[in-house]
Amino acid sequence: MNDTPTTPTTPMPTPAMPTAARGLLADKVAFVTGAGRGIGAASARLFAREGARVLLAARTEHQLKAVTEEIRAAGGTADYVVCDLADPTSVQAAVDRCVRLYGRLDVAFNNGATGQPPGPMDQLSQADFDHVCAVNFKGPWLAMTAEIAAIRATARRGAIVNTSSVGSLMGNPELPAYGAAKRAVNSLTASAAVTYGPEDIRVNAIAPGTTLTEMLHEWDAKSPGTIEQLNALTPLGRAADPEEIAQAAAWLLSDRSSYVTGTVLRVDGGMRA
Ligand SMILES: NC(=O)c1ccc[n+]([C@@H]2O[C@H](COP(=O)([O-])OP(=O)(O)OC[C@H]3O[C@@H](n4cnc5c(N)ncnc54)[C@H](OP(=O)(O)O)[C@@H]3O)[C@@H](O)[C@H]2O)c1
Repeated sequence: MNDTPTTPTTPMPTPAMPTAARGLLADKVAFVTGAGRGIGAASARLFAREGARVLLAARTEHQLKAVTEEIRAAGGTADYVVCDLADPTSVQAAVDRCVRLYGRLDVAFNNGATGQPPGPMDQLSQADFDHVCAVNFKGPWLAMTAEIAAIRATARRGAIVNTSSVGSLMGNPELPAYGAAKRAVNSLTASAAVTYGPEDIRVNAIAPGTTLTEMLHEWDAKSPGTIEQLNALTPLGRAADPEEIAQAAAWLLSDRSSYVTGTVLRVDGGMRA
């Protein structure tokens, strides 16, 4: 009989539990326009999950309220402000509200925009053309101007993302004013990146492809078959969920993209590859 005492098994060291992962936007205050639905709402939810305190802006109060309450119920910090991007006073007031509420502004997602009645440019009314320019082109300029001042005065460094469109990178026979305004946003984005880079304020744009939101469904309702046609032009063969666009915006707003500025990031399923 072997009575040699068996070597006690050395207990394996318990691996240290990873400390709770810090969110991508931890400690940041984020301002999001067009946050009542679609890509903006998905972004507000995601930014809050990633640790940001979020101020949601758009015109439709009941939508803003619903998304804000959802974020709070999930443990996030959010509030909202009614804001019309076509009204300079309203845009300035919304950014001011963010600073009053949270004491600072670190990052901003200028995402709110309007569609246009689809059709050739000679069929578009001057009123519709002017409205698209006011909301989709002048709106982001107004917002950036107010945001830069707020970032400078509080966080002192920051990041801005503007929502452009894959339509900014091609001809748009159905949405000519919309495409032109989005291309103008790309130009504003590049100019802002160059102007404010020395202050460590990064400015980028995302160019979503086909994304399943009210804006797309409205276009598809007016021009039936649009979604199917766009999907056929998309290597991934499908439209995006708004959350997939929000993920790109979150990364560009986060410190993980600290050396990225002045870019237009396509999030288009490969449509313009
Ligand atoms: N869906 C796509 O396929 C697609 C593709 C490329 C780019 N995009 C861009 O993605 C962004 C988000 O659009 P979405 O697809 O999420 O559309 P959406 O569901 O229609 O959302 C648009 C958001 O913008 C807000 N908005 C519209 N006019 C406004 C105004 N005058 N002032 C303030 N807010 C205003 C809307 O709220 P109120 O109406 O309540 O103000 C809403 O919250 C837009 O910049 C759009 O151009 C979308």
